[in-house]
Amino acid sequence: MLEIKNLHVKLADEDKQILKGLTLSVPKGEVHAIMGPNGSGKSTLAYVLAGRDGYEVTEGDVLWNGESILDMEPDERAAKGVFLAFQYPMEIPGVAGLTFLRTAVNAVRKKRGQDEMTTPGFMKFVKEQAAKAQHRRRNAEAPSQCWVLGGEKKRSEILQMAMLEPTLCVLDETDSGLDIDALKIVSDGVNALRSPDRSTLVITHYQRLLNHIVPDKVHVLADGRIQKTGGKELALELEKSGYAEFTGKAA
Ligand SMILES: Nc1ncnc2c1ncn2[C@@H]1O[C@H](COP(=O)(O)OP(=O)(O)OP(=O)(O)O)[C@@H](O)[C@H]1O
Ligand SMILES: [Mg+2]
Repeated sequence: MLEIKNLHVKLADEDKQILKGLTLSVPKGEVHAIMGPNGSGKSTLAYVLAGRDGYEVTEGDVLWNGESILDMEPDERAAKGVFLAFQYPMEIPGVAGLTFLRTAVNAVRKKRGQDEMTTPGFMKFVKEQAAKAQHRRRNAEAPSQCWVLGGEKKRSEILQMAMLEPTLCVLDETDSGLDIDALKIVSDGVNALRSPDRSTLVITHYQRLLNHIVPDKVHVLADGRIQKTGGKELALELEKSGYAEFTGKAA
């Protein structure tokens, strides 16, 4: 279970408070969405979960399975099963991409005390994962190769997510990155990875993504805090009414 408790975050080298007491829990087996107006701190939350430099936690905590992750290095977080879709950003160029992916997977396996994967073993694993995630939208032959060689960033992100077998997935999806194809890749990937021992947080203000993913809960982030929590229907309400109600509060 992911527990974010009274999280206060400011920019490290500026006197600007972004998160002002954000509290939220994502139990295992659930997919939650965070929606909110531009500049409300959605990406900041994702960066803090990733351990990116430039942000300072001034109050509160983030617990993953009861353990604070805030003092952990990003690779320690990965070994604990935390995956952030933007953390390994790259367009995967063919074979080099697979080598990279194997390095990433093996780094995580090593931290977890598991054996490293050999190249043939890894290729088999890639194919299994790719098949599992039902992403053989191109020709049936060599689905994993197509997936990677296709070079689409989303596809490689979701493949990486499946490969690393995370137990906490955080995706920060901006509107601009999501055409219909990408939308389907992301939502199919998240849906395929739904499992009783995995928590997923999808950050977006793209309501249509949530039609496909169907989150268990939707949280509205504005003025540095969660202002409202509801079921999947809340995303539809926001699509109609916008965020005025919440930004009004902020003013
Ligand atoms: N590294 C940074 N340097 C300067 N300002 C920053 C930085 N990171 C975030 N901010 C500011 O903090 C606020 C929150 O930004 P953030 O990117 O987290 O919002 P967001 O909710 O993800 O917005 P969007 O919907 O546009 O993706 C904004 O006012 C932004 O300009
Ligand atoms: Mg953002």
